Formats: sequence, C-alpha cells, structure tokens
Amino acid sequence: MFEPVLTRNIHRPYSEKITTYLEHGGYNAVRKAFAGTPEEIIDMVKRSGLRGRGGAGFPAGTKWGFMPKDQDIPKIVAVNTDEGEPGTFKDREIVERDPHQIIEGVIIAAYAIGAGRAYVYIRGEFFLGVKRWIKAIADAYEHGFLGKNILGSGMNLDMSVHRGAGAYICGEETAMLESLEGKRGNPRLKPPYPAQVGLFGLPTLVHNIETLACIPHIIERGPEWFAGIGTEESKGPKIFSVSGHVNRPGNYELPLGISLREIIDEHAGGVRDGKRLKAVIPGGASTPILPANRVDVPMAFETLNAAGSQLGTGAVIVMDETTCMVEIARRLAKFFAHESCGRCTPCRIGSVRLYELLDRIEHGKGKPGDIETILETANGIDGLTFCPMGAALANPARSAIEHFREEFEFHIEHKGCLVKAVYSS
Ligand SMILES: Cc1cc2nc3c(=O)[nH]c(=O)nc-3n(C[C@H](O)[C@H](O)[C@H](O)COP(=O)(O)O)c2cc1C
Repeated sequence: MFEPVLTRNIHRPYSEKITTYLEHGGYNAVRKAFAGTPEEIIDMVKRSGLRGRGGAGFPAGTKWGFMPKDQDIPKIVAVNTDEGEPGTFKDREIVERDPHQIIEGVIIAAYAIGAGRAYVYIRGEFFLGVKRWIKAIADAYEHGFLGKNILGSGMNLDMSVHRGAGAYICGEETAMLESLEGKRGNPRLKPPYPAQVGLFGLPTLVHNIETLACIPHIIERGPEWFAGIGTEESKGPKIFSVSGHVNRPGNYELPLGISLREIIDEHAGGVRDGKRLKAVIPGGASTPILPANRVDVPMAFETLNAAGSQLGTGAVIVMDETTCMVEIARRLAKFFAHESCGRCTPCRIGSVRLYELLDRIEHGKGKPGDIETILETANGIDGLTFCPMGAALANPARSAIEHFREEFEFHIEHKGCLVKAVYSS
C-alpha cells in the first residue's frame, strides 16, 4: 500500500508552522545526516535513484557528485520555486503548506556538498508562497537550523528569498541564476554547467523544490525504501498535478510508474460530465500530447519517452472529446511566443511564426501547405537554441498534428472546426 510522504503534512492545521513540522518528526533527518559524512550522504542520494522533479529528470546524486570537493571554494544551493510550466501547481502547494520539508532538504544538500549559502528563487506572483518562505526561513534561524554552527555540527548555512517577476524562462536554471544576479533572465550556454560555474561564478547546485523535499525522507527511511518505489529508471514518490476535464482536479502524490489511466480514472475521478477522453498532456505544456489510446502508459521517465512524450513535471492536463486540438496548439503556441526570452533567433522568430500559422488556421484563414510549414518551422527550432525551450515549444504543435492531423486539414479545407461541427449539432 503506497503511503504519501511529500504531502503527508499538508492537510494538518497550521501545517506551514515549524512547531507542526517538529511535532511530526521534522528536522530529525538533519540530525541523522550530521551523524554521517558528506560522502555517505551523497552515496545515499545516488543509491536512492532520485531524479530531478523540475522537468529534466537528471539523477540528483550524480549532480551532487559533480560539485567540486575543494573545501576552499565557496559553494551555493539554488532552490527553484519558479514553477512556470503551465499545468503544474505542485511546488506552490509544498511551499505554502510545508516549507520546512524543503528547508530540511536544503540543509542536508548543503551539508553534503559543503555549501554555506542557499538562495531561493520564487515566482513573483506566488504572494503567499513568498510570505511562507520568509517566515519559515526566519523560524529555522530562530530554532538553530540555519545560521552559524547548526545544531552544534560546525556547519554554517545562510538562506534568503528572491522574487522573480513572472517570466517562464527564469525557471530554466541558468536564466534563474542570471536573474538572481540581478540581470535579465537569459539562459547561459552550457557547458560550463552550474555545478562548475553557477551563481556569481561559484559552483552551484540547482534543484527543484520537490526534489529537495524528497531528501529528508531518503535520509530518514533509507535509500532502499525510496528505490523500492517506482520503476527500473524512475524511483520514488511523485506529485502529479491533474487539471482539465476531470471530476477532481488537484495534486496527487503517487508512486512513479502508476498508469496515466489510473491517475485520471481512479484518483482524479474520471473525465467530467461522462464525456469520452480525447487526449492528455502528461508532463506539463512543453511535453508532447498523447491521444486517448496511449493512456495505459506508466508515468515514468523511460516509459513516457517510449510512448512519444515525456514525464516533465508530471502535470497531467486532461482533454475530453469536445476539445479542438487546433485551438490547443494555438493557445500553447501563444504562451511560448510570449515567453520566449528572444535570445536565440529560432525561438524568438519561430515561436511567433508558429503562433501566426496556428492562429490563422484556427480562424478559418489557413492555406494548403500550412501544416507542412508548421512542421518545418517546429523542426527548425528544436535543438537549435541555447536552452531546451526550443524543443518545448515545438512539441505541442508537432504532436497535435501527428495525432490529430485530420482536424487541422478540416480547418483549412472547410474554414471551420470539425469538433465544433460535431458537438454543436
Ligand atoms: C524553459 C524552462 C523552464 C523551466 N522552468 C522550471 C521551473 O519553473 N522550475 C523548476 O524547478 N525547473 C524548471 N526548469 C528546469 C531547470 O532548468 C532545471 O533542470 C531544474 O531546476 C533542476 O532541478 P532538478 O534537478 O531538481 O529537477 C525549466 C527548464 C526550462 C528549459
């Protein structure tokens, strides 16, 4: 029987308070971590199989292992609370309702890599999240979990919060570092990776907050417990944000490897109003759309790749039979065109061009050859940009055409919508 751990506190009264966290075993993992060496902690994270929950799924322990060992080099932990991916609302819930779980993960990560400074970057619109971060950090200082000589261990760690201004690109780790430095949030060319040259030129460990929230549980319950959940290549619990045409949208903490169908039908209460399922975006707006006949896929990094999509952030967007896929592709293209930072020409120009093409098809002004131009444009962006946003913005239009081409053709030929024609009659 799967037992949620990351969300275990969030329904308790005053779950955000340090007293509530301490009453339920909070900060015990820090004490346990201090009893081991930094190398032992890194080894535990490696053995757990934890992969980043921010979208890319990079193995966390491997990233910790990349940090330079030289004790004279100051190191930093950067905590990514930007959560800009449309459909994703898991990080906001953890920050608002259980911020100490993340702080505990940050302290353990800082101990393992020898960092003395942690910076939180948070999406500017998360007003409550900002307040909760500030209060939680102040309380952690007061209780001796942050600051000098934490719990008598000799370890020092300072932590502060910085607000972004609501730019999607600032969730990309190197753009986030630029923004933290007070500059325009443009991605940096990699390599060098942040673990080598990060914030203010110092080695920096960047993590999503769900990844960091897993750390205390790995230390408390052991890496074998964590690795015992999930699939061969995707271990541990995961919070899935489910939205769209379902009866019970919300965040669901479930084991990786659970089928997409089970998430939709069992946990989110099925498709609303008794309608048929048409398509699902399984991992946030930048992951390829899957048609209904592929929803038996296990929600894991490797299985979703094999099914033609990605796990991404685990944000499941459900669409019923009344959804026009041209309109979905158009709306997503509009989002990406608006959010392109403009640094790379294929993304800056291509995103707008994709939107214009999809907009004219949606509004009955599409021309023969537009579908081919969309695919050519999308292929001309993917892989040709500094950051992965190029691939991200190519995915929705490309996958919508791959699985629902007839809807695009109908729009162009009949200057109207096939779905509307069926459902308004
Ligand atoms: C365009 C773009 C936006 C991103 N936005 C976020 C975000 O809002 N939050 C996040 O944690 N990671 C985001 N990422 C992923 C980060 O670049 C990075 O991989 C992640 O913060 C690393 O943490 P993890 O290893 O814990 O997943 C984004 C990536 C791209 C390309």
